[in-house]
Amino acid sequence: MNILAIESSCDETAAAVISNGNIRSNRIAAQLIHEKYGGVVPELASRAHQQHIVMVVQQALSDAKVHKKQLNAVAFTRGPGLLGALLVGASFAKALALGLDIPLIEVNHMQAHVLAHFIEDPKPSFPFLCLTVSGGHTQIVLVKSYLDMQIIGQTQDDAVGEAFDKTAKLLGLPYPGGPLIDRYAQTGNPQAFAFPMGDMPNLDYSFSGIKTAILYFLQQQTKQNPSFIEQNLADICASVQHTLVKILLKKLQKAAQQTGISEVAIAGGVSANSGLRNALSELGTAQGWQVYIPRFDYCTDNAAMIAMAAHYKYLSADFCPQTVSPLPRMTF
Ligand code: KG4
Ligand code: ZN
Repeated sequence: MNILAIESSCDETAAAVISNGNIRSNRIAAQLIHEKYGGVVPELASRAHQQHIVMVVQQALSDAKVHKKQLNAVAFTRGPGLLGALLVGASFAKALALGLDIPLIEVNHMQAHVLAHFIEDPKPSFPFLCLTVSGGHTQIVLVKSYLDMQIIGQTQDDAVGEAFDKTAKLLGLPYPGGPLIDRYAQTGNPQAFAFPMGDMPNLDYSFSGIKTAILYFLQQQTKQNPSFIEQNLADICASVQHTLVKILLKKLQKAAQQTGISEVAIAGGVSANSGLRNALSELGTAQGWQVYIPRFDYCTDNAAMIAMAAHYKYLSADFCPQTVSPLPRMTF
């Protein structure tokens, strides 16, 4: 059983082939064009998807040694994401499924981030908690089974990835700034500067307050010393990262206490952050949790995770009609 999966929700055009639950290929074309604009420009993203999609799909099929006539289904990311970007993947998948006369499978991008944990061993057992952290989302998900998930906490404003990227922009770093903050933080002092943790009820998050606090802090410091950022870059990055990770883990710990669940995972682009990975491992040991941290290539956007989600949907014959349309704010 072979499924081709396509991901085009933001700025990565990706395709993967899964055969009987095993990932056979996983291709990505990144869009470097957004770097100079300091963020993803939706229209440029759609155009770049159009340029890359045929080549990426051909590469994925060729790596997997699967001919398109051997496909049993085509899957695509229905949402959440940028409408124009999603439309490219959805239209391509529909046309291919129609041409080959095979079923179409729609996948929720955020569910797929969670299901990236089933690509390789060790795999979490149900129920588990997954902190899903990306450029657009920050969620604590109670995962009851492969396709039965409940969001038990989430950000009420910015996503944590946005907090990383916007801080990086204030520091004059290119987009996406999260990985760069991570890199500079390695040589900095995480206690050098203090930023507010904020206080949200229940298991929810808020990152707009800390973003503003960082902005005011940098404005004040550079007024006194125009070279403040250059002279303290590593310490600023380490301190910001330390605060963001502390905020994330505080609520994750509360969720584990409330639910009594000790299988704990992280997923999404920000789960590539070394500060978060190390702090979660330490907290997991202290709390007696079983911790699951994905391989780097399965943290950020990829089509292997879409393929994994599609595999479970195929097993339950969860197909969608050709009239399906993308949902930029899709939830579950
Ligand atoms: O999951 P993802 O690839 O795309 C979305 O679905 O949004 O996540 C992208 C986000 C960006 O905000 C990026 O800066 C962040 O993940 N990110 C990181 C790191 N690697 C990627 N943030 C902090 N540290 C990293 N190492
Ligand atoms: Zn993502």
